[in-house]
Amino acid sequence: MNNKVSFLTQNFGKYDTSSIDSYMKIGGFSALRKAVKMEGEDIATLIAENKVRGRGGAEYDMGRKWSQARKVPGNNHIIICNADEGETTTFKDRELIKNDPFNLIEAMIIAAYVMRATDGYIYMRAEYACFRPLLLNAIRQAHKYGFLGKNILGIEGFDYEIHLYSGAGAYVCGEGTALIRSIEGKAGRPRMKPPFVKVSGAFARPTCLQNVESLSLVPHLLLDDEKVYQSYGVGDSVGTKMISVGGNVRHPGAFEIPFGTTVRDIIYGLAGGIQGDRKIRLIQFGGASGKIATDDILDTPYTYQDLRAHGVMVGSGALCVVDERTSVIDFLRINQDFFSEESCGQCTPCREGNLHIKIILDKIKAGTATKEDIAVMEKIARVMSMSSLCGLGETAQNTLRSAIEVFPEVFAVGGAEA
Ligand SMILES: Cc1cc2nc3c(=O)[nH]c(=O)nc-3n(C[C@H](O)[C@H](O)[C@H](O)COP(=O)(O)O)c2cc1C
Ligand code: SF4
Repeated sequence: MNNKVSFLTQNFGKYDTSSIDSYMKIGGFSALRKAVKMEGEDIATLIAENKVRGRGGAEYDMGRKWSQARKVPGNNHIIICNADEGETTTFKDRELIKNDPFNLIEAMIIAAYVMRATDGYIYMRAEYACFRPLLLNAIRQAHKYGFLGKNILGIEGFDYEIHLYSGAGAYVCGEGTALIRSIEGKAGRPRMKPPFVKVSGAFARPTCLQNVESLSLVPHLLLDDEKVYQSYGVGDSVGTKMISVGGNVRHPGAFEIPFGTTVRDIIYGLAGGIQGDRKIRLIQFGGASGKIATDDILDTPYTYQDLRAHGVMVGSGALCVVDERTSVIDFLRINQDFFSEESCGQCTPCREGNLHIKIILDKIKAGTATKEDIAVMEKIARVMSMSSLCGLGETAQNTLRSAIEVFPEVFAVGGAEA
């Protein structure tokens, strides 16, 4: 039942992460050397051929994004690496930063070549401050070796700098426009779109925002002449995926798996099963805004399509496994606390909606909720998803809404709590 693979993680443990020489001894920067002999559009096509979807949660077609971004006029584009990783139970990007920092820097330089970027930003969550020295060292050494700075690899006009930026602990700053405002020194609050960031992003310059895992894949795909990546996966879910498994499992951790691994093999194989051999109450997929399923999902292959058919999503790649000791309402209540705290408060449906749902969940827990309360709660959840300004408010009630579908008995007035 060991479905661990190492395509994206192939460099883990193979080099000294503080030394560019060590990285180059295992072939580091050969993907960049190969990339600069190619047309930028061909690199975008390569990503599209491998059917890579962005790994930050929205699952957007990455090859298409690069192709669109490079067509935006201008020669001072910006690449942003989203290392905010604020979703609960999500800690896979952390592993990529910690174990393969030079690969991430190389990926950002390749992205700059493709999109004619002159600046790159790594926006890292406040709690990852321990990785700042590692990344700053990698940036400094890349500079010294001519992979950053002016006329990179001797190519006239290929000028690029990478800046490292730390957030201040707000989950909402993982949202693209809030993140950009934070980089610009403004309050990290989302803004309306358009203008879209690919046209007018950071400092009003064309910007391409990409998750750590999405970027980290690029150097490996460029060197994958044997098409090893495509040998993994099922149907449209090509290749491998980093996932993080947490909650009441015996061995929480981040794993690279081939798409198509069953949820059972992930939970009972890689993560060692449930602590104390207890029963599963629910599994939340894709972070705090993810939907939930019961253990009837165990034999479902982990693919974009199969998870969707089962009512959940890959999202951020997290699986939070909750055992029978926690009730559905207690779980929802904890989740709700997260959103009430993290809402930036800018728009009414999200600010007030999260608060009122919290109050009604407390009433359900106390056994005092009326039918009207439940109806109001469902209505608030619907309104929030339709009228919030950003993805936080739009998706905050995914968990609640799926819980109502999966565990209707919990919300029946006078019914027993599961
Ligand atoms: C509230 C909120 C938080 C988000 N947090 C993250 C995050 O921590 N990391 C991330 O990569 N994407 C996050 N996203 C998604 C980003 O907005 C964006 O879609 C993503 O960084 C694009 O990269 P990708 O296409 O490689 O996934 C968040 C979105 C929202 C609405
Ligand atoms: S939806 Fe929530 S987080 Fe997003 S802008 Fe509105 S209040 Fe802020």
